[in-house]
Amino acid sequence: MHDDFISIGEVLTYLREENITDLENKAQYVHNFIEKENKSIGNAYDRYLENGPSTFMNVVTEHSGVKKECILWCVNHYLSLNRNSNVIEKACNAMRQFGTGCGTSASSCGMTSLHKNIEQKLAKMVEKEKAILFPTGFTTNLGSISYLVGNKDLIIFDRECHSSIINGIKLSKAKKWISFKHNNVTDLEIKLQKFKDSFENIFVIVESAYSMSGDLSPLQEITRLKKIHKFYLYVDEAHTFGIYGEKGQGYCYEQEVSDKVDFIISTLSKATASIGGFFAANEKYCSLLKWSDPYAFQACLTPADAAVILASLEEIENNPLLIQELHAKNSYMRDLLISKEFNLGNSRSPIIPIFIEDHNKLRMVVNELYLQGIYSTPIVFPGVKINEGRIRFILNYGHTKEQIDYTVEALEKVCKKHQII
Ligand SMILES: Cc1ncc(COP(=O)(O)O)c(C=O)c1O
Repeated sequence: MHDDFISIGEVLTYLREENITDLENKAQYVHNFIEKENKSIGNAYDRYLENGPSTFMNVVTEHSGVKKECILWCVNHYLSLNRNSNVIEKACNAMRQFGTGCGTSASSCGMTSLHKNIEQKLAKMVEKEKAILFPTGFTTNLGSISYLVGNKDLIIFDRECHSSIINGIKLSKAKKWISFKHNNVTDLEIKLQKFKDSFENIFVIVESAYSMSGDLSPLQEITRLKKIHKFYLYVDEAHTFGIYGEKGQGYCYEQEVSDKVDFIISTLSKATASIGGFFAANEKYCSLLKWSDPYAFQACLTPADAAVILASLEEIENNPLLIQELHAKNSYMRDLLISKEFNLGNSRSPIIPIFIEDHNKLRMVVNELYLQGIYSTPIVFPGVKINEGRIRFILNYGHTKEQIDYTVEALEKVCKKHQII
């Protein structure tokens, strides 16, 4: 059995290219690689947080049991609301009043007044007639895309779209799907032009900010294409809802294009520090999607999860400093990194990627930082293309200036040592 792989990406590619389909064999290849990783420099995907996420916590390596106090850079709680005392209090109260789980799906009476309150608030925030809640962001995309798109339709999506979008596309009955070059409006327009008469409907799917690269979508240019071409526009606001717009209404709102976007979705696991997702649009589309499988056949998020979302939305609305300070910290960290000659690509959102093409160097950087109490997981294939590896720093409101300074200083030393900068 071939066993000199250097990354899980190599293992998965090998299995695909060699057409190794036997389950026993496939599982053994992956297992052998993980065992080897555990014994060597340390498997970055084998770690968990002893006491949950915050900006400075104990990271435990499961295999060895080793614990290390680290500044955390891999959590999407942009506003650190998971540790906000008002939010926690409301979640505890909700559990006392509403109990723990919901016990069934939304369609079979699983929702509470908390869930309904959230749906109304969300619709208002993103300026749509209606919003409906799904149990997770992932299944929002699975259910929405697979149910909206029919067998005479074309989907054109940005090539950096999240796995939940890609899986929604695969589950759909679309006659054809193609990607366009990342954030490239010219390429999108060429494709719209080429296929304009060949399909009943065309759906364009983008994210407002991309989770791997931290760049923002050219939404104004994309919506301008609607004047010339006929298509439905679907925007995933996972990494902007709650942190763009003065009250967290999202990037479509901030760019003043909400009325030109047909479908807005987002997860509620990031800025609002809970779990769940929503789909917002004209009411008739929401009526349709209530029959999509993840809405109709998946249990609702719990009352405590719902209370966290409501309380987080209240905090965002009542405390504009949360968003302002997050963006100020983002600018501070970016300026500092640029002054040390790091190339931040086109990233602008509070996701800061440092690209390290050489997989071995990326592993060493991640582990050397970990030993100095700085933790983020490496992003490798299949999360990104092979040779597009990176380490990502996700800024949270709770990160302090001292934590940023310490991290950038250590990163500079490690990257100089490995001749990355
Ligand atoms: C763009 C995008 N959409 C959807 C999701 C899925 O959200 P969740 O993990 O909350 O289910 C993610 C998660 O990272 C995401 O980045």
